Amino acid sequence: MAVSKTYKLNTGAEIPAVGLGTWQSQPGEVEKAVEAALRAGYRHIDTAFAYGNEKEVGEGIHASGVPREDIWLTTKLDNPWHKRVAEAIDRSLENLGTSYVDLYLMHWPSSTDPDDLKKAYPDWDFVDTWREMQKLVGTGKVRNIGVSNFGIKNLERLLNDPSCKIVPAVNQIELHPSNPSPKLVAYNKAHGIHSSAYSPLGSSNSPLYSNDAINSIAKAKNRTPQQVLLRWGLQKGWSVLPKSITKERVEANWDIFDWSLSDEEMAKIDAIPDRFKVCGDDWLPHKVFFGDDE
Ligand SMILES: NC(=O)c1ccc[n+]([C@@H]2O[C@H](COP(=O)([O-])OP(=O)(O)OC[C@H]3O[C@@H](n4cnc5c(N)ncnc54)[C@H](OP(=O)(O)O)[C@@H]3O)[C@@H](O)[C@H]2O)c1
Repeated sequence: MAVSKTYKLNTGAEIPAVGLGTWQSQPGEVEKAVEAALRAGYRHIDTAFAYGNEKEVGEGIHASGVPREDIWLTTKLDNPWHKRVAEAIDRSLENLGTSYVDLYLMHWPSSTDPDDLKKAYPDWDFVDTWREMQKLVGTGKVRNIGVSNFGIKNLERLLNDPSCKIVPAVNQIELHPSNPSPKLVAYNKAHGIHSSAYSPLGSSNSPLYSNDAINSIAKAKNRTPQQVLLRWGLQKGWSVLPKSITKERVEANWDIFDWSLSDEEMAKIDAIPDRFKVCGDDWLPHKVFFGDDE
């Protein structure tokens, strides 16, 4: 049985180091993936209102037989709901069939007009949204609050605003060897914010699976390239959220606790020169990424 691991957040809560990702997991496949993950030992599931699969995620949790209180469940506030935070969390809880989430994230620092998704609100921004999210703490509906897709510039603006009374517990960001974001990770750490890695494998059709450095390390250790990528993330100090709807892959991605990468192997992965980013901001009404981790 693999040994699992957690990271302590600035709230004192312990977030399990590996969570099942569910972006692009369709209804009809995500319930089974969640059930398989929980049966394999995962205790952390990552979803979002925007993925349109919260209901099936809840059904997978129920089908697994694992008690709700043993599971870390994360969901996210969608951009067109920034002015309706109280309503949005109630919707998500209803979809998920639970009375609380362990972590509620602002999915993007982009407050979008629900009547025109190409427009930002002229009179509202993510600092206002965070003020509303802070009100959820203490309602029993969310145990921790955090952000996602925040670069240093937007974090500075949030943390320096007088209305910011709660430092986000987590910043969920894109992290893999081709987007390692060292300045942003260091900024998070210096402010007591845990970094959680989305697209830790490089997402669908990942070019990292054919990378020479990753493959030579995988071969030497008798591991898969995916296990090497996830283990690299754990040793960097962030939680990893691999997505798969394939039972064998879900199980293999969990087997990363009782072995490790040497300093030389870590350095070889750190030295991968190629850069790519899975998630951009050109579909949003605001720019949210400003280059070089900003
Ligand atoms: N906050 C945000 O804005 C944000 C953005 C992106 C992602 N996320 C979160 O992070 C999670 C992970 O990111 P992601 O979905 O972009 O990508 P990912 O986890 O980096 O990669 C998923 C892809 O890898 C494949 N895969 C998984 N394990 C494998 C294995 N052992 N062998 C071969 N292929 C494997 C999956 O295929 P199959 O599923 O077909 O097996 C899928 O195509 C998301 O699901 C979501 O929960 C959050």
